[in-house]
Amino acid sequence: MNTHRIAVIPGDGIGKEVVPAAISCLERIAELHSLSLEFTPFDWGSDYYVRHGRMMPEDGLAQLALHDAIFLGAVGSPEVPDAETLWGLLIPIRREFQQYINLRPVKTLDGVATPLASEHAVDLVIVRENNEGEYSEIGGRMYRGLPQESAVQEAVFTRLGISRAAHYAASLAASRSGLLTSATKSNGIVHTMPFWDEIIAETACLYPDVELAAVHVDALAAHLVLKPWTLDVIVASNLFGDILSDLAAAVTGSIGLAPSANLNPEGLHPSLFEPIHGSAPDIAGKGVANPVGQIWSGAMMLEHLGHAEAARHLQSAFEAVLREGVRTRDIGGTASTTDFTDAVLSMIDALAARHPAESANAPQR
Ligand code: NAI
Ligand code: MG
Repeated sequence: MNTHRIAVIPGDGIGKEVVPAAISCLERIAELHSLSLEFTPFDWGSDYYVRHGRMMPEDGLAQLALHDAIFLGAVGSPEVPDAETLWGLLIPIRREFQQYINLRPVKTLDGVATPLASEHAVDLVIVRENNEGEYSEIGGRMYRGLPQESAVQEAVFTRLGISRAAHYAASLAASRSGLLTSATKSNGIVHTMPFWDEIIAETACLYPDVELAAVHVDALAAHLVLKPWTLDVIVASNLFGDILSDLAAAVTGSIGLAPSANLNPEGLHPSLFEPIHGSAPDIAGKGVANPVGQIWSGAMMLEHLGHAEAARHLQSAFEAVLREGVRTRDIGGTASTTDFTDAVLSMIDALAARHPAESANAPQR
């Protein structure tokens, strides 16, 4: 049996609650589908930083490189500056492993109320460029403490970076409805965004079934609130994709629901799977975090590892639990993280009993 080695970094805050919840679901699914998943935990994050002055060991990336995938909760703590937590762990992983696509599906789920006035179902995917753009270390601070104190932050956009995100998004759009929306801001940001627009348009032209619309990100934000069901694949720069994905997830009910995959599409390096939310210090330790974003990220990981049926089984299980009305507080319920996870575990078994051919000892793909 082919063993998948998975590096697990629960990280900080609610990451330490939702990661174990998702792992228990993945272990159950693995058992039923005869998959061999080997989880190796890493205690990296803000507590590690407080003890060692860094978020992960010096050879952290080399350790992760030995794995087939990385399963992350979230990093961030009120005790450590956010720039340290992000640039000390997540951004180096995304860059070193060339995880240049951040895939963020957003869907309305039965049983989850949305703030939308309409009943339309939302089913869209945000393709966020994940390696460059506005998130760059180029820049600096001058004249600290003086009246002329200033800060400069440079955005970096490259032809390679934009075109590979564009190809991924266009090919994804071609496999769905064909509608590709690009988030731009070429009216205000006059160098990088017209460059982005040009390369996205050039690339989209290579996909005859894809219809491209470039929309200013401010208007697109309004569009996402007013009629998100008319959008399908959105391609966006690092910053715009980050903001639009929290917005889109909130529109479907909660940012606690949304998963993501940080992909190295060539498979030369491990990809990383994590919910889009952060460590939520405001609710950490209370046992009330919604584990859906983490569990769904686990389903994306299974699919990435070649186990589409197992992924569907897990997805069907948490969707059925939501449909039956088990909900955490963020989506209007009273269930704890553990209550919800236990319900998913029972549902995994119930679905396996209902469709034994699709689960128990199903042949591996
Ligand atoms: P956040 O996503 O942690 O929380 C925003 C709001 O959503 C909070 O009210 C929180 O309680 C709620 N929320 C988030 N996830 C939830 C869940 N699963 N269930 C129920 N409610 C949930 O964003 P915030 O507050 O901006 O950041 C907190 C920390 O997380 C910061 O240190 C930040 O840098 C870090 N962060 C880390 C990320 C990562 O590791 N990928 C991503 C985003 C933020
Ligand atoms: Mg974010």
